[in-house]
Amino acid sequence: MTLVINPMAPEFRYDTQELFARLLREQPVTPLADGGVLLCRHADVSWALNSHEVRRPTEWSVNRKPEGPFRDFGRNNMIGMNPPDHTRFRQAIMPAFSRKRTDALAGFIEQTCAGLIARMRERGAGDFIADFALPLPVTVICHLLGIPQEEEIMLHEGSAAMLAGLEIIATPEEFERATAGATALHDYLTAVLRLRERNLGDDLLSLLLRNERDHKLSREEIVWAAITLLMAGHETTTHLLGNGLLALMRNPASWRQLQAQPALAENAVEEFLRYDPPLYVLFRQAAQDVEVEGQPIAAGTFLMLSLAAANRDPRHYDQPDVLDLGRANARDNLSFAAGRHLCAGHALARLEGRIAFRQLTQQLADVGLAADPVPRSGVMFKGYHSLPVRYRWAPQAVPASA
Ligand code: HEM
Repeated sequence: MTLVINPMAPEFRYDTQELFARLLREQPVTPLADGGVLLCRHADVSWALNSHEVRRPTEWSVNRKPEGPFRDFGRNNMIGMNPPDHTRFRQAIMPAFSRKRTDALAGFIEQTCAGLIARMRERGAGDFIADFALPLPVTVICHLLGIPQEEEIMLHEGSAAMLAGLEIIATPEEFERATAGATALHDYLTAVLRLRERNLGDDLLSLLLRNERDHKLSREEIVWAAITLLMAGHETTTHLLGNGLLALMRNPASWRQLQAQPALAENAVEEFLRYDPPLYVLFRQAAQDVEVEGQPIAAGTFLMLSLAAANRDPRHYDQPDVLDLGRANARDNLSFAAGRHLCAGHALARLEGRIAFRQLTQQLADVGLAADPVPRSGVMFKGYHSLPVRYRWAPQAVPASA
């Protein structure tokens, strides 16, 4: 019997173990009510991300947005583009994410984590999302763009409104807020770029402005590229941190393992990404007639790719529903996508995760849920608006004066 599923329902993100196991076993290609299909096996999702037979449904995603700045963003959002425009944007931004430039941010990230943890220590209890998981990546992305800390809240709010507008289930009200967010961010970054061009530095905006001189990107494209980076670069990392901490709170033996072996943090981040990815699904379109798992899929069909199910595929992972911080192939997770749209900031997000979990497990003796987490709405993301926690600090972390 065909299993009918509704990927828009919260159960598709928050209570998925049995559903994914069944889909992976019995129904790797699932027809959806709107005529699209859901792919969930690791091999099939990986194929779709890497194949030239699959593309981004660019026109569809631009045209569904209301006329105005939010639709302008849609036209200039590299995540939604196909070559050759995508290649031009990618070439313009990738130098900012070189290994050397990313590693150089380690000191700043260490310092930011330490400052946030010091404030959490004063409070004793709080919301891990508001206290740590959100401010860390926002501060890092603003530092990268060379934007003052006072603007962080405005930038986060504009970006959050735009992310909600990108959702496949966005309402007219959400489109309205997304348009207001796009207008505010566009105006702000246009003004910042005008000032920055008189005083180029080593930040990402200066790098993009140098590209303008080389005619790689126009000024308008630079503004939208900066907004894309702001949006792509922070809420995703927030959910890596939030989902990762929740996984540790629900698996206390893994928490103790990470405390005892801080060097495990790098692989632990891979396992958090595999176990509960911030982006649960991605959207693509068949560019020509293809066949998946022996089933024909016609050109033009929308493909919904479940990164979360692929990361739990027993054909690829031993005991996929177990959190195993030492898992040898955890890094094969598809949570940063793959192929030409492979996440530009994956090395930065991994670095933030590694430093954050190392500091948290070294400074906290224990952490526990103080109330139920409040899940985020939407189809693409899996994460929490708030994660109420109680902290118990390690004795050596208490300052001598306390
Ligand atoms: C844990 C954190 C993160 C996760 C899980 C994540 C995940 C992803 C995924 C799945 C995509 C592909 C989207 C698609 O093809 O539809 C993507 C693209 C992208 N990400 Fe990330 N991301 C993270 C952090 C970051 C950070 C920190 C930055 C930059 C500061 C960033 C910048 C980008 C950019 C620019 C793209 C577009 C790449 C392209 O289209 O060529 N991301 N990310």
